[in-house]
Amino acid sequence: MRIFNKTMIVAAAVSAVMSGSVMADVKEASSEKHAKAATQYRQAVFQLVRSNMGPLGGMAKGALPFDESVMETNAVRLEQLADMMGDYLAVDTRKFDVETGAKDEIWESFSDVEKKVMALKTAAQGLQAAVNAGDESAYRGAIGKIGASCKSCHDDYKKD
Ligand code: HEC
Repeated sequence: MRIFNKTMIVAAAVSAVMSGSVMADVKEASSEKHAKAATQYRQAVFQLVRSNMGPLGGMAKGALPFDESVMETNAVRLEQLADMMGDYLAVDTRKFDVETGAKDEIWESFSDVEKKVMALKTAAQGLQAAVNAGDESAYRGAIGKIGASCKSCHDDYKKD
């Protein structure tokens, strides 16, 4: 019995770690006020994503020199922002009149959205790995993968 209990605790802990903060359940906004705040927070996350992606995009295009310290810092931050993204996207604001670039479909296929969040996280880790290996020939491709993960989600779930 004791062993059984320990196994259960370990199993619960493992599944909590595996699901991580990327996974979240869709929950409806409870009021217009809640929906407006949730939309602001959601857009704020993407503003931080943009501020960290901007310099990386400049480096990939050759407009800025590769700076390994900036690449490392920003790739870590993008990974952290990916970890938050699921929670911030999970609040379903469809019922309320909010100004949002999110398509309604985002709350209809949330497991697919989470896959796209994971793709961003994996791509951000890929850039960290390239920088840690000092493999300059991989930098542009690694940044390109991050950009592709943005586009893949925007194509399906962001308006225009
Ligand atoms: C999992 C889906 C997903 C991923 C991945 C994603 N985005 Fe977005 N993004 C959205 C959605 C949905 C919105 C619309 C949010 C809203 O208006 O409520 C958005 C909005 C934005 C905005 C506008 C924010 C505002 O203030 O209105 C920017 C900028 C942005 N994303 C940049 C990026 C960049 C750069 C990446 C990749 C590094 C990225 N996004 C990755 C789904 C995603």
